Amino acid sequence: MFKGRIIEIADYISKNSQVLDIGTDHGYIPLYLLKNKITDKITATDINTKPLLQAKKTLIDYKDLETLKFIKSNGFENIIDIASYQYIIIAGLGGKTIEIILKNYNDNAILILNPTNNEAILRKFLYDNKFKIEDEKLIYENNIYSIIIKAKKQYKVLKYNQRDLVLGPILIKKNNKVISQFFYQKGIYFQNIFLKSKKEEHKELAKIYLSNKLK
Ligand SMILES: C[S@@+](CC[C@H](N)C(=O)[O-])C[C@H]1O[C@@H](n2cnc3c(N)ncnc32)[C@H](O)[C@@H]1O
Repeated sequence: MFKGRIIEIADYISKNSQVLDIGTDHGYIPLYLLKNKITDKITATDINTKPLLQAKKTLIDYKDLETLKFIKSNGFENIIDIASYQYIIIAGLGGKTIEIILKNYNDNAILILNPTNNEAILRKFLYDNKFKIEDEKLIYENNIYSIIIKAKKQYKVLKYNQRDLVLGPILIKKNNKVISQFFYQKGIYFQNIFLKSKKEEHKELAKIYLSNKLK
């Protein structure tokens, strides 16, 4: 049941830390954290009732745990003790939705973000709002690429360029085989789109992705 993506997200969480999982859905990330004794101080939230009920089912073995909470909430809306969380996980949501959720966040937790799309928009938001990208991972499983971003508020202006936004500052540095393959595929994708759209933005994206060379 636990895929590489969940394992890699959990890998960032330090032992016995206070974790807020926004958009928990089936509750698989909390389940992994509990099963592997990483932490039991978890608040699982979701905007919708059904997924939250599903998460309660998934975590039925832990129902008597006082430190495990379930809250129905749109982002941080119904979370009262926001500053008490050391880690905030927002995984499997679109980059723009993650951006909207984080607009109300001004504390110091380590953010573990796993956008399903629009990662460049999310990175721009992070830079513009003084969240430093401390690490990034690219997971490839079942023919799907998945990006995991670790970020934290820095309270200072962070410089960036278009390449940082599109490729990711850490992925550029790591640049392993999986990463360079991902960039190449994206480059070809945008090149083909440009052939039809003739839009400069697509040409520019293709250029940035294809500018990467495997070290
Ligand atoms: C695809 S699931 C991701 C599940 C899980 N986080 C994971 O990575 O495996 C997305 C979940 O986010 C919830 N969601 C969407 N927008 C949300 C918001 N603004 N606040 C909280 N939850 C939200 C949805 O209801 C859904 O259950």
